[in-house]
Amino acid sequence: MFDGVGALVLAAGKGTRMHSEAPKVLRTILGEPMLAYVFDALRPLCPDRAHAVVGHGASAVRRAFPDMAEGFVEQTEQLGTGHALQVAWPALVSRGYEHVLVVNGDVPLVTADILAGFLSEALAVQADVAFASIELDDPGAYGRVVRAPSGVCIVEAKDYDTMRHGPATGEINAGIYLLRLATVGPLLPLLRNDNRGREFYITDLVGLAGKAGLRTRAVNRGRDGALLGVNSPRELVAAEENLRRGIVDGLFDQGVLVRCPDQARIGPRVAVAAGAVVAGPCEIYGDTSIGTGARVASQVWIRDCGLDENCEILPFCHLEGARVGPGCKVGPFARLRPGAVLEQEARVGNFVEVKKSVLRRGVKAGHLSYLGDADVGAGANIGAGTITCNYDGKNKHATIIGEEAFIGSNTALVAPVTIGRKALVGAGSVITHDVPEGMMAVGRGRQTNLRRKP
Ligand code: UD1
Ligand code: CA
Repeated sequence: MFDGVGALVLAAGKGTRMHSEAPKVLRTILGEPMLAYVFDALRPLCPDRAHAVVGHGASAVRRAFPDMAEGFVEQTEQLGTGHALQVAWPALVSRGYEHVLVVNGDVPLVTADILAGFLSEALAVQADVAFASIELDDPGAYGRVVRAPSGVCIVEAKDYDTMRHGPATGEINAGIYLLRLATVGPLLPLLRNDNRGREFYITDLVGLAGKAGLRTRAVNRGRDGALLGVNSPRELVAAEENLRRGIVDGLFDQGVLVRCPDQARIGPRVAVAAGAVVAGPCEIYGDTSIGTGARVASQVWIRDCGLDENCEILPFCHLEGARVGPGCKVGPFARLRPGAVLEQEARVGNFVEVKKSVLRRGVKAGHLSYLGDADVGAGANIGAGTITCNYDGKNKHATIIGEEAFIGSNTALVAPVTIGRKALVGAGSVITHDVPEGMMAVGRGRQTNLRRKP
């Protein structure tokens, strides 16, 4: 915790080099928006003191982070990182912070540890303006750090002139700054956009502070890949791969067996218990937990699911917002949609879709079915081709199926409808009325066998 330090994330830019209309900071890395990683890194350091400048796609960014509502400041025209800071400044001043930690919204791999190290060093030397730098073989489009006898400054790639600034050293600006509000405030009106980018650069503050006799500091983090910016699809995928490897490695350390680990894409919030087996290629994202002894085969896509111990997900399943109880077996080729709850040892087989339905203990729905808005009692058997007709064009209706009921193949259950305990529905039925406990219902045309014409 760093008292008196507020945080500001710069997240208003369009991300032109991404070639997409979506705001860059919402592009995902292992299923989470880039900006979420930056907020997560800040949370332990400046709880409740994080702000963000939004602009391009501001309403989408706000929607993605409802908890941050208080902290957003809007930059309606994106005139540069320095301009973004100017727009946010009054909000920072009004909160009475002594310092502000400014972080570019496109450094998703930054961690709380890295930021804490940077803050400690910058605060220890009582810098007015500090920034983090890293070393690269090729400084590319990054701002370059120039350490002149007169003091340190940052020169943007577009404005870099070897004649004037000397050969680039490979030390670049990582886009993380610590600013002292009292001394930096008076410098903000001095920012100019008379550069190649025609933008107001936050980076010019370093040189301006030096000239004003303030204390500046470049905190060099060596070759730390966690501080690389994400500006293009290539950089996004590189960051994602970097993070992915770290997550899979961490799972091995915890005793998870990850087969084909190079193709296992597992998000940062996924919790996998020791003794579980996960096979790549797979994508497992969001708030998902996988219990011990669970086996997740390859070619599955999972988001926000709870998979209990010893359950088995067979190949080619798509699971979202579902709960799979202990010992359940799902797939191959099954789809569990939000609100699907499978209790202990339930079985959902190929081409079965389940939405907002509870399948109680030991239910079997082995093939080719749709179960939506249904409550299926323990031990019931759902025949191949069973459809709960839950939607009448306007509203959704519930289907209740009692314990140990047997639904014959190719049955349409027109909801709202209740099938009693141990009732049986004949194959091919269209059921529009409730079936009482223990009864057999047949709702289909009678077969007539007619003599063929000779
Ligand atoms: C910036 C730095 C560069 C540094 C690099 C590190 C400047 C001028 N340059 O360059 O020295 O090496 O980051 O990754 O700052 N943004 C706004 N409003 C704007 C413009 C940008 O909020 O008007 C936000 C963007 O959404 C982004 C961040 O600021 O998250 C950085 O902007 P970007 O355009 O990516 O700067 P770089 O060219 O990468
Ligand atoms: Ca950038």
